[in-house]
Amino acid sequence: MINDQNQPSHRSPEDPMKHLDDWESDLKSRYPKPAPSAVEHEITECQKHEGESNKAREDFRKYDAEARSSVKEFYRLNHQFQTYDFVQQKRHQYLSLTQRRMGIWEAMEYLNTLVDDSDPDTELSQIEHLLQTAESIRADGHPEWFVLTGLIHDLGKILCLMGEPQWAVVGDTFPVGCQYAKSIVYHDFFKQNPDWDHPVYSTKLGVYQEKIGLDQIIMSWGHDEYLYHVVKNHLPTEALYMIRYHSFYAAHRENEYQRFFDKQDEHYFPWVRRFNEYDLYSKSDQRPDVAKLKPYYESLIQRYFPSSLAW
Ligand SMILES: [Fe+2]
Ligand SMILES: [Fe+2]
Repeated sequence: MINDQNQPSHRSPEDPMKHLDDWESDLKSRYPKPAPSAVEHEITECQKHEGESNKAREDFRKYDAEARSSVKEFYRLNHQFQTYDFVQQKRHQYLSLTQRRMGIWEAMEYLNTLVDDSDPDTELSQIEHLLQTAESIRADGHPEWFVLTGLIHDLGKILCLMGEPQWAVVGDTFPVGCQYAKSIVYHDFFKQNPDWDHPVYSTKLGVYQEKIGLDQIIMSWGHDEYLYHVVKNHLPTEALYMIRYHSFYAAHRENEYQRFFDKQDEHYFPWVRRFNEYDLYSKSDQRPDVAKLKPYYESLIQRYFPSSLAW
């Protein structure tokens, strides 16, 4: 996955996607930007909407066949190998947070060293995606903890730099230890997962009980859960929900797994949905000016985080 930009690709079969964000492009094609509020029916709004859906269709077309088949292969690996035991092993490996110590901006720069086969002239770098997300939240006048959440939400992707394959870093997340929801993309690939016909893990509740609360649910391993553990003592609960569940599309887009929600989850989960709009739809071709934005974001980071964190 990590290649010298000038060298031809040496992707391993474990990392089928050319670009880590091909998964996000696929999400955008599955969940195109929703129409503006149904209340707005003025001609100007209709024209605006028409423009937006044209843009969505155009994006969909641009998302080429090769990328689509590599994303499919990526999901095959993800669904086959994300077992309950695999996740427990990764939690044990990473959640003691003994990999390294870094500040937030340092982690952003570290993540930016992740060089994949993307075209540096057209694809956004990781730091640019983080800044675009944060800037679009800021432009809408949201509180600063929300802006900060946009800035850091993908930092868990440094797992790639720690040697984890794409399928253990990105991709839609889902509970393990219970039945896989039908609406999870490429659901059929779960048949290759050893947990598929496990006597307990294949049942509706699995190892859990109804209304047990999401905090007790073991999610498939990836960048969301890892970052949550790094930052959990420093941000408000709303922000922690956004970070921990932003890839849990089966719940925030498909309303699955509601049986496990407790009162707290019902209260905070709408924030995950609000965040998703910025995560998926803030990407634009206009590159943010990293040097110009850095002082603002460094001072924001300082208000919430110590200068060094355990990762
Ligand atoms: Fe993410
Ligand atoms: Fe993201």
